[in-house]
Amino acid sequence: MESAADRSRILDPSLHPEGSLAIAWARRHSPVLTGLVASTFEDGSLEGVRVAVVVHLEAKTALLASVLADAGAEVVVAGSNPHSTRDEIAAALVERGIEVHATRGSDYGTWEKDLLAVADREPMYIVDDGAELTIRIARQRPDLYRRLRGVSEETTTGVERLRRLEAEGNLPFPAMAANDAACKHLFDNRYGTGQSTVQAVLQLTNFVMAGKEVAVVGYGWVGRGIATYVRAMGGRVSVIEVDPVKGLEALMEGHEVGSAASVLPTADIVITATGGMRAIGMRDFPHLKPNVVLANAGHHDLEIDVAALEEQAGAPRQVRPGVDRYEWNGKPINVLSKGALVNIAGGLGHPIEIMDLSFSVQGLSLHELVVNDLDPGVHILPKPLDDAIARARLEAEGVHLDSLSSEQVDDMGDWIGGR
Ligand code: NAI
Repeated sequence: MESAADRSRILDPSLHPEGSLAIAWARRHSPVLTGLVASTFEDGSLEGVRVAVVVHLEAKTALLASVLADAGAEVVVAGSNPHSTRDEIAAALVERGIEVHATRGSDYGTWEKDLLAVADREPMYIVDDGAELTIRIARQRPDLYRRLRGVSEETTTGVERLRRLEAEGNLPFPAMAANDAACKHLFDNRYGTGQSTVQAVLQLTNFVMAGKEVAVVGYGWVGRGIATYVRAMGGRVSVIEVDPVKGLEALMEGHEVGSAASVLPTADIVITATGGMRAIGMRDFPHLKPNVVLANAGHHDLEIDVAALEEQAGAPRQVRPGVDRYEWNGKPINVLSKGALVNIAGGLGHPIEIMDLSFSVQGLSLHELVVNDLDPGVHILPKPLDDAIARARLEAEGVHLDSLSSEQVDDMGDWIGGR
């Protein structure tokens, strides 16, 4: 019989020892995923269930795949972005008997083929990121799309894509918006991306943050997190937004807020976090400060229009690992990690404790899909499960909360009383 190794497409199986060490480290620091979630799956609900995991392929994702496989699932894995795949992690998964289709830095054509190879394993459920596998199955494997039993989605952009499919009347299965659980976006999008993005930018450039002016494009959960960490390290934040409430929020936080044309000329570093495409594009290049550093934290590699920059400035010169320098009309512009998510493609990704939360949400979301007969459409993890994840994480940190006394509960019911 063909083994997982025979079916996989990875760079080099011999890289597995380094990958296994990284996964073991992640396991040691993921008490919720390996505790609460693993014990939830002890009900046998995943036995023989085929699950595709298409999330940035690094150590924490590999741990999630392993927890699902340990629970009896037949797991097949690909990366949600070729620039974030870790080849040693892919090798460790294959060594453990899990099929993988991914290599770091593959061209987009090869990446598409990897995703379709995963589709051709006919998964019943998908743990997706950016809905990258789901939208390809919708377009290119319509029969399989109709048979899918459920999708659990990791990120803001993917949830938006699923909601659009639902609005078009083309979501024939239940989908869990894992991103919308409190234990996901409040921590992962804000603290996890905030910390890891700033870390990656500084590591790739070897710059100091203190005294830098940093333009943050998009002040949603991710932008807010980035702004917090930039300020904590002594940088000054300017925000570019299109939503008036978000713009006002940024102002109240004490940041500069303005249009791209007013903010970009003084920004040393520009970080995009909009979830859209071409947030920094042709009309912005004339405003950029010479030697500026451009980095992206949003889902799409197209958030900085690197293709347009290359068309106008010619091919870049790699001046450091992960740093491409363009000469635009004689002005040097540096792009990090080719415009892919800088914290994952150019850094270590999210902190383990954060992914313990995010992937616990994914795990319990998948469990909900498998054990319940949910209606087609986008669903959110029930609050008691979200709370159980937060409580388990607090307990792992040695923190125990108070609970309301019966008297306090009674007072809350007495909504007319009081002075
Ligand atoms: P969000 O929806 O909370 O915030 C996005 C913000 O960008 C909104 O306030 C919107 O008004 C603003 N915006 C949209 N287009 C804009 C433009 N052209 N110029 C200025 N502002 C614009 O989304 P969230 O949760 O902050 O996520 C942002 C992106 O980051 C998404 O693509 C998400 O999938 C991705 N993400 C990346 C992570 C990473 O590890 N790098 C982790 C979590 C999310």
